[in-house]
Amino acid sequence: MDWGMKNRMARIINPRTGRAVMVAFDHGYFLGPTQRLEVPRDTITPLLPYADTIMLTRGVLRSSVDPESCANVVLRVSGGSSIVGPDLSDEGLTTSLRDAIRLNVAGVGISVFVGSEHERQTLLNLAELVNQGEEYGIPVLGITAVGKELEKRDSRYLALCCRICAELGTHIVKTYYCEEFEKVTTSCPVPIVIAGGPKLETEMDVLEMTYNAIQQGAVGVDMGRNIWQNDHPVAVIRAIRSIVHENNKPKQAHDLFLSIKNEESKKVASV
Ligand code: 5RP
Repeated sequence: MDWGMKNRMARIINPRTGRAVMVAFDHGYFLGPTQRLEVPRDTITPLLPYADTIMLTRGVLRSSVDPESCANVVLRVSGGSSIVGPDLSDEGLTTSLRDAIRLNVAGVGISVFVGSEHERQTLLNLAELVNQGEEYGIPVLGITAVGKELEKRDSRYLALCCRICAELGTHIVKTYYCEEFEKVTTSCPVPIVIAGGPKLETEMDVLEMTYNAIQQGAVGVDMGRNIWQNDHPVAVIRAIRSIVHENNKPKQAHDLFLSIKNEESKKVASV
């Protein structure tokens, strides 16, 4: 691996812990103004100090994140379909690597839709992106199973998706937590991060999922809604960080969540 690729990987996966806290804000690329992401800057800014990397599109990056924030960025570079269109899986590449380099990204992310009508197209998009990424030293995050594909959220399907991404040369894979998750991680020779999926009922559910995923071989999270759709997003991300980077147990992380939440409430009450 060349210096540039290694350096960018170290901006995504912290070399000190071997773990990663990524926060995803890219939902608008097919969902439009997703709940609590209606004004991206308002959602993103408070979380920047606690995210190792942020994942988003170039449009939201340029319009809603200050370059001086020094955020590490994994840029979503696939898209072309929407939630109201005929088929979410009909994606292409939306952003050139030239533009990604201009944005000084740490990596680029692309979805694949294994088992869908557009399986071949999206896998070849990924392979082409890896070809370009290798040329310029830019890691590629392969994103598995979104939209309709989520119905197949079991270890057999997710292991298939992750392994295919790895075989095509992706440097990191993003997938979903599932039962028997270690079957997914052990058969994937590159690091895996988990998405959170739709908002879970309690904070403890999110922390337990994070903990279990790490215990079973994930290197971290690339989570969105379970962080910023919470009423206390900073408290949630800090609790997640404590699991990912400090090996906290869910109960310790939950205690941390509660103490930060209480501090926030006291500050609001004193204003
Ligand atoms: C959409 C994505 C999202 O970034 C991903 O689903 C992570 O967000 P969440 O934790 O809200 O599921 O890749 O295609």
